[in-house]
Amino acid sequence: MKPFDVYPLYKVTPVSAKGIEVFDEQGTKYFDFYGGHAVISIGHSHPHYVQRLKDQLDRIGFYSNAVQNPLQIELAKKLGELSGCKDYDLFLCNSGAEANENALKMASFETGKSRVIAFHNSFHGRTSAAVAATDDSKINAPINKQQKVTFLAFNDITAFEKEIVKGDVCAVILEAIQGVGGLDEPSSAFYQNIARLCKAHGVVLIADEVQSGFGRSGKFFGFQHHGIKPDIISIAKGMGNGFPVGGILIHDHIKASFGLLGTTFGGNHLACAAVLAVLEVIEREGLIDNAARMGDYFTAKAVEFPEVKRVKGRGLMLGLEFGFEVAELRKRLIYNQHIFTGGAKDKHVLRILPALNITEAHLDLFFDALKKELP
Ligand SMILES: Cc1ncc(COP(=O)(O)O)c(C=O)c1O
Repeated sequence: MKPFDVYPLYKVTPVSAKGIEVFDEQGTKYFDFYGGHAVISIGHSHPHYVQRLKDQLDRIGFYSNAVQNPLQIELAKKLGELSGCKDYDLFLCNSGAEANENALKMASFETGKSRVIAFHNSFHGRTSAAVAATDDSKINAPINKQQKVTFLAFNDITAFEKEIVKGDVCAVILEAIQGVGGLDEPSSAFYQNIARLCKAHGVVLIADEVQSGFGRSGKFFGFQHHGIKPDIISIAKGMGNGFPVGGILIHDHIKASFGLLGTTFGGNHLACAAVLAVLEVIEREGLIDNAARMGDYFTAKAVEFPEVKRVKGRGLMLGLEFGFEVAELRKRLIYNQHIFTGGAKDKHVLRILPALNITEAHLDLFFDALKKELP
């Protein structure tokens, strides 16, 4: 047997990593400015994270959701405090797609309706309802077409209102800052009008914070830049710093009942320990403020490059838009400069998603390398 060949791979084989440094089997050092798709939030192999996971594994790694797990209660409390979302309940699962799947399902249970409104260039994952709400026909199979999803443009509140008044919508799902799509976000006024119309029409507002959450944007959640309060918030990626874990925060006006949602692995002891370690490091090391500061530093340096048409994003969820497609530049950065970066659906955008404890010296190193490799 061999792996199912769905990923085009760079010829790099990481075998160890520390902070933003990644080493291959020859000991060559790479700098990780992409965090493996925005996953590495507190740096590779952070000592507190490693120790907490080791300690947990020595005690108990897993038991199912049929028994009490005090770590889930500790995690919900800590997450509520750090995110400012104390009036939400937490349901844990295993990935970003699964988080959105559960969010959309809860919206449908709550409203008794089934149509979803999503936005152009959205990405919400690759499972059933999540992929149907993803604006990419190439990754939607015929079986996914049975979901009813309407894609709308950012900042067109008239079109939005025309759809929501029809009365068949269960959920509006948005990425406060689009990730895979290429770092676009609409105005705060647009988001606030959406939130107002959702409330007026009894529609569940879902903020997909899988990529922008856990401090990456310079606030705990990306939607907090826009002064809105979603009914459900989906989380994953940076939440586990590499441990596969996801979840949804459900506002307490939506009530739970036994059996409504469920999962075998979700919220297991090891996953909770990983997320608690991430939250503890974010808090102790002031990483949300650092993300905001480093984002400002990055932007100030980036605008000095005439080749950069636009700097996109917030905090350490960043994109550089060029007048050319960036695939070749990414290859040169990785093979010549040993620097990992990311691409986007918009092929002109280079995505930068480093760990939140990155320093100015690291960013200087990135820009020195970029200068050498720009065409
Ligand atoms: C905003 C957003 N939502 C959902 C997902 C899906 O997450 P996962 O790959 O963990 O299923 C992603 C992944 O890139 C994402 O960026």
